[in-house]
Amino acid sequence: MLMNRAETGLVNSPPRRWLQRWYEVPVLLRFGGRLIPGARALEIGCGSGYGSQLILERFGAATVDAVDLDPAMIRRAGKRLARYRDRVRLAQGSATDLRAALDADDESYSAVFDFGIVHHIPDWRKAIAEVARVLTPGGRFYFEEVTAHALARPTYRRLFDHPTDDRFSAEQFLDELARRGLVLLGSLTRIQDDYLLGVAAKPISTGGDT
Ligand SMILES: C[S@@+](CC[C@H](N)C(=O)[O-])C[C@H]1O[C@@H](n2cnc3c(N)ncnc32)[C@H](O)[C@@H]1O
Repeated sequence: MLMNRAETGLVNSPPRRWLQRWYEVPVLLRFGGRLIPGARALEIGCGSGYGSQLILERFGAATVDAVDLDPAMIRRAGKRLARYRDRVRLAQGSATDLRAALDADDESYSAVFDFGIVHHIPDWRKAIAEVARVLTPGGRFYFEEVTAHALARPTYRRLFDHPTDDRFSAEQFLDELARRGLVLLGSLTRIQDDYLLGVAAKPISTGGDT
């Protein structure tokens, strides 16, 4: 679901940028570390591209592919990220179908980033399935998410537009990651039952029985 004007303004405001750079990125780096040299990263729901910039500069990705449902956001991201030239590839499309949006093969990214986007997706489980599909074995899913508890708050309901059915608690989000074979690294940061930040990994197969 697309953001309304109030949320677009908030997401692109200096305080939100500050929070993302100085709080969210350090927490995610503490849990998941920087990326391996040469890493291909994917950002789902890239908005105006500030997260992709941080993925390149702070997480050390070699390249970032980024997708957003909103063509206006992709245009804004294109302007912000133009200086990275062919290190960035942008596409309009849905995180629930990364093959259609980016022609993303199975096991093609060493890291996927979600800066507050999965709670915007009606079929959010499909998006998690896609994240798990495109991650390489050993790859990492860095996430910052908003729970049903936050979305039910009067301020959220009054100011912003989000899907209302079948939203998730922190536990339900983690259960879905586990169902798709993703394993939480270290612990999780929760803020008042409203927000969660963490990193999950796709295990490297040990090859099974011989
Ligand atoms: C709260 S904003 C976050 C934007 C950006 N990640 C940030 O932190 O600034 C959510 C973004 O998700 C996008 N979005 C919503 N549903 C989507 C979907 N199914 N696939 C990809 N992007 C989606 C919206 O257009 C919006 O840009």
